[in-house]
Amino acid sequence: MTGLYLHIPFCRRKCSYCDFYSEEVCEATIRNYPDLLKQHLTWATEHSAGATERSAGATEHPVWATEHPARASEQGWPGPVDTVYFGGGTPSLLAPEAIAGILKAVNQNLGLTKDVEITLEANPGTVSQRSLAGYRSAGVNRLSLGLQTCNENQLTLLGRLHDRQEGLDAFKWSRDVGFDNISLDLMFALPGQTTAELKEDLCAYLELAPEHLSCYGLTAEPETPLQQRIISGELTLPDEEFYADAFLLIHDQLATAGYEHYEIANYARDGYTCRHNLGYWQRRPYLGIGAGAHSFCDDQWGSRWEVPADMTAYRQALHNNQEPTKCLETFERESALRETIYLALRTRHGITDTELKQRFGCTLQDTFPEAVAGSFPWLVNDNGRWSFTPAGWLLFDRLILPFL
Ligand SMILES: C[S@@+](CC[C@H](N)C(=O)[O-])C[C@H]1O[C@@H](n2cnc3c(N)ncnc32)[C@H](O)[C@@H]1O
Ligand code: SF4
Repeated sequence: MTGLYLHIPFCRRKCSYCDFYSEEVCEATIRNYPDLLKQHLTWATEHSAGATERSAGATEHPVWATEHPARASEQGWPGPVDTVYFGGGTPSLLAPEAIAGILKAVNQNLGLTKDVEITLEANPGTVSQRSLAGYRSAGVNRLSLGLQTCNENQLTLLGRLHDRQEGLDAFKWSRDVGFDNISLDLMFALPGQTTAELKEDLCAYLELAPEHLSCYGLTAEPETPLQQRIISGELTLPDEEFYADAFLLIHDQLATAGYEHYEIANYARDGYTCRHNLGYWQRRPYLGIGAGAHSFCDDQWGSRWEVPADMTAYRQALHNNQEPTKCLETFERESALRETIYLALRTRHGITDTELKQRFGCTLQDTFPEAVAGSFPWLVNDNGRWSFTPAGWLLFDRLILPFL
C-alpha cells in the first residue's frame, strides 16, 4: 500500500521556534492552493502511468509502483492509498470544503482503501466547532491537534495563536463532532520549565484522554526568533539532565496510563498508532504533494524526492506542465540497509534478523558487530528482535552513529 502526504505551507503567524516550511500569506493564496494540489496530483499520477523504468534513464520523475503490479492499480497508479496525511504548516487554514475537494481528487486519481486513515494537523487557534464538523464530514478520521502545552505563559512565549482555554475547547469540540482518534502534540524542555509544570501538563493531557500523543523536546532551530533570544541570553533552554529526566518522566507516566511508547516521540493506545508515520519508519512508499513535500519511492533499493520549498517555483512548474519534484537520493544496497536500521530502531518494533535476512541477506550482529557491542546495554535482542530501551532512545543520536 502507498501513503499520500499533502503539504500545506501556510501559517497565520510563525511560532517562535518553528523552522518547518510555511509562509504567512494572504487569503487568496490559501484559497487557490487546493487547485494546485489537484493539478499536481493529476500530474503525478498521469506521469507514473506506464512510465519507462527510471533505471533506463528515460524519465526524471519517480516511477511510482510500476515495478510492483500487486500494489499498483490497472493504470499503473500508485493507488489505492491507505493513508492520507495533511501536514504543514497549518492544514486547518483550508476550509472543510477544500479538504473535501482534495480528497475527492485523491479518490479519483489514486483511489482510497476502505479503511483509509486520513489525518489532518490542526492548530487549535484556527478551528471552530463548525470547521471541525466539516473536516469530519469531509472524511478526515484522525486529527492531530497542536496543543503543545497547557501552560499559559509558555504558550505566549512559544508564540502560539491560542491560549490554554482555546486549546482545551478545540479538543472538546473535536470529540463533540465525532473524532474518536485524536493525537495531541506536547512540547517539553521549554525555557524555564520546572518538573512540577511538566507534571501539570501531563495531568491536563491525560485528563483529555487522547488516543495518541507526540512528545517533542523543544529544539532551538537555526535562525528562528527562539534561537535569537537564546543567543542573546534573554532565554535559556533546560540542560541535558532536565531533558533526560523529562523524557523518562513522560515515558513512565504515559506507560502507566496505558500508552505504548511505540516510537521515540510517539505514544498510542492499543490500536491507535499512526499508520502513516509508521510507514515512514518502515520505508513504505509514499507520494508527497505540495510545495515542500517529500516522497519515498520503493523502486529497487529506494529513492527520495522533494518538491522544493518555494511556492512561486511550484506554481510556475505546474503552470508550465513541468515536473515539480526532484530526486534527492537514490539508494544502493548499503545505504538502504543503513537507513532501514536507522529508521527501524526509532520504533518499539525495532528490526528482526529475519527481516534483515529477507531484505538484505544479513544479520545486525554479523554486519555491525562493533556497533552492537558499543550499544550495550541500551540495544536489546529479544528472540531475534533488536530494539533500543527508552533510556537508549535518549542517546539515540550517539548510539546510532556507528550503524550509519
Ligand atoms: C507542523 S506542526 C503541527 C501542526 C500545526 N502547525 C500546529 O502547530 O498546531 C508539527 C509539530 O512539530 C513540533 N515542533 C515544531 N518545531 C519544533 C521545535 N523546534 N522543537 C520541538 N518541536 C517542534 C510541534 O509540536 C508542532 O506541533
Ligand atoms: S503553527 Fe505549526 S507549522 Fe506553523 S509555525 Fe507554528 S508550529 Fe510551525
